[in-house]
Amino acid sequence: MIKMSTGLCLALAGSALASFPLQAKEVVSTADRRADQALAKMTFEEKVRLLHGPMTALVAPAKRPQGVVIGAGYIEGVDRLGVPVLVETDASLGVSNLMDMRKGDVATALPSGLSLAASWDPELARAGGAMIGSEARAKGFNVMLVGGVNLVRDPRAGRNFEYLGEDPLLAGTLVGGQIAGVQSNHIIATIKHYALNNQETGRNVASVEMDEAPMRESDLLAFQIGMEKGDPGSVMCAYNRIGGTYACENKFLLTDVLRRDWGFKGFVMSDWGAVHSSEAIMAGLDQQSGEQLDGKRYFSDLLVKAIEEGKVPKSAVDTAAHRVLHAIYAHGVADHPLQPGQSIDYDAHADVAQRAAEQGIVLLRNEGDMLPLAASAKRIVVIGGNADVGVPGGGGSSQVAPVGGLKRVTKGADSGPAAGFAKRGYGGTAPLDALRAELPDAQISYLDGKDVAVAAAAARTADIAIVFAEKYAAEAIDQPDLTLGEGQDELIDAVASANGKTVVVLETGNPVLMPWQSKVPAILSAWYGGQRGGVAIARVLTGKVNPSGHLPVTFPASVDQLPNPVLPGSAAPAADKETRAVYGLQAGTKGFDIHYPEGSDVGYRWFDRKEAKPLYPFGHGLSYTRFRYHDLKITGGRMLTVRFTVTNSGARAGADVPQVYVTRPRKAKRLIGWAKPDLKPGESREVTITADPRVLADFDAGAQRWVLPASAVQVEVSTSATDPVLTGAAKMSRFNRKP
Ligand code: GLC
Repeated sequence: MIKMSTGLCLALAGSALASFPLQAKEVVSTADRRADQALAKMTFEEKVRLLHGPMTALVAPAKRPQGVVIGAGYIEGVDRLGVPVLVETDASLGVSNLMDMRKGDVATALPSGLSLAASWDPELARAGGAMIGSEARAKGFNVMLVGGVNLVRDPRAGRNFEYLGEDPLLAGTLVGGQIAGVQSNHIIATIKHYALNNQETGRNVASVEMDEAPMRESDLLAFQIGMEKGDPGSVMCAYNRIGGTYACENKFLLTDVLRRDWGFKGFVMSDWGAVHSSEAIMAGLDQQSGEQLDGKRYFSDLLVKAIEEGKVPKSAVDTAAHRVLHAIYAHGVADHPLQPGQSIDYDAHADVAQRAAEQGIVLLRNEGDMLPLAASAKRIVVIGGNADVGVPGGGGSSQVAPVGGLKRVTKGADSGPAAGFAKRGYGGTAPLDALRAELPDAQISYLDGKDVAVAAAAARTADIAIVFAEKYAAEAIDQPDLTLGEGQDELIDAVASANGKTVVVLETGNPVLMPWQSKVPAILSAWYGGQRGGVAIARVLTGKVNPSGHLPVTFPASVDQLPNPVLPGSAAPAADKETRAVYGLQAGTKGFDIHYPEGSDVGYRWFDRKEAKPLYPFGHGLSYTRFRYHDLKITGGRMLTVRFTVTNSGARAGADVPQVYVTRPRKAKRLIGWAKPDLKPGESREVTITADPRVLADFDAGAQRWVLPASAVQVEVSTSATDPVLTGAAKMSRFNRKP
């Protein structure tokens, strides 16, 4: 009865939450109270049970708890008290099915994280999260390992495709939407990989050496904003070290920042194979995930031993178990038991993925308004990118086997740490099929592009040549450079030389160099487009959809422009690198230090500081219509508010993403906000953007405060980080606030 009435109270409070902020306290304290009550009834063994779990695939099916679906892992519950088993799945781009662990299981594939970030749309992030969270629940999972929000510090990093770009405000805002969407299904979402896991090389051993202030102003700010907006039940700590201490036993990160400063009440789970001691529990780690990968059961037998030896206080178990229970009750996991085998409306879900893909496509270049394709284009040759079978995706734990399956599957890496699980393949609607559906009167041929001369000859006799250029990316490996590779630059150059009306569609996990750029009048960045990526590309190319994507990452003109022209650790001795990058450590393997000279000036901020001109700047994105900005009004003081009007001065409807950047004296510019007005031709809308002072402030590590001295600031309303349209100034009064 109590559970029922409490549940009812939770449900009511949850539904009323939006209108009565005071209720938020009620929901949290109810979760606290329920956790206290459950804990009081638990035996010590039952509490320890909540603090560790295996990688499911490595447990014999007969040994798995009743009803556990195979996924990333599970944590046994306490059935007699109604504490459910936690069944965990990856990841941010859909319900992943790594190494086909659930034979033949498919799921809706969202576009990549960078595609979502290119939409600049938190509501879209929420819708995508809600959709994949509903599929996770239907498939039998109540924990979803989403929320990858490590900033793109190096454009070569292998997992950038999973993440949300280089700016902490954009990434934090979007990851918050994604997390809220996933948790709207009464399942727990994570935010990850906490923190500074910005590259794959040496991820298990390297130590990121960064002062607290730049850390707080960049990667940690992205987590902080994401947690404020998304309220994740769990934080996943990362593999790497920070200042020499592993993230998963780093008291500064897990206790001082997360709990003391940010008031986080949920639990910290480790990444899979990221635990190195039982004492980590005293730093703030609450749960060992995928324990077989660590080789030691640090949070079960060895934890009990450490307690018996007086190395760990018994109370640490209560604290950690309470946090797990808090997340379970705060997010309705116990009150909404899983009922696996529910039906999934994959068509409706694919519509969500398509909308995301359409809004993520960035029109980089459109000389002479070559796009959208004219109806008069009768003979079109489509070349390369496996565009005849589907769109590419990234490899690793986030990889989704899309509805319809992956085609032309090859190994994502021949050796090294990714070889074990990274696959390369193509799924979803094939761009070729989608184009033929959109242009039924055109003759559309396809060539795989392997023979450059044949491709150039075909282009010569076509009205239009469309080259699909792809670049694979995967977890556990970074990219050696920013070139497209695989002969694609030569292919594009030859085709563009043969036909002046050439379009290049990039399907990459990262920014790439474009030596052929001046020869190609139209260039789209379509990222990894997900379940309906092909349809989205075809609808943008033909003008059914007016592109509105804007770059969430800088496309450099050269790696020499980067803070680290050589990716840290990439020059490490091969043997060392191979050894180090696999899960766990060989005895005595010493890590290496990673220094990020940019500090908190990540991406566009670095380019601003260095006055370097990128190939394409952060925030860049063209439209098939035109927008005008006017009537700028700025008010400073304690809060900086920027008002302006956007007018669609073109001939067709479209959405724009005006961005507001602020520059303090002797500082690099920082994004303080944006809007995404969707306007009919001639329509105007006033936009009001208010700066979160933390985005502008310095973090004073000595005083442990955000500090913004009174100062005159420059304000730009821009179409990208390097293209101001309206400018103004304001006087900011002093700002001083606890972290
Ligand atoms: C991986 C990843 C993490 C994932 C976990 C479970 O190694 O780093 O993002 O959620 O293991 O698959």
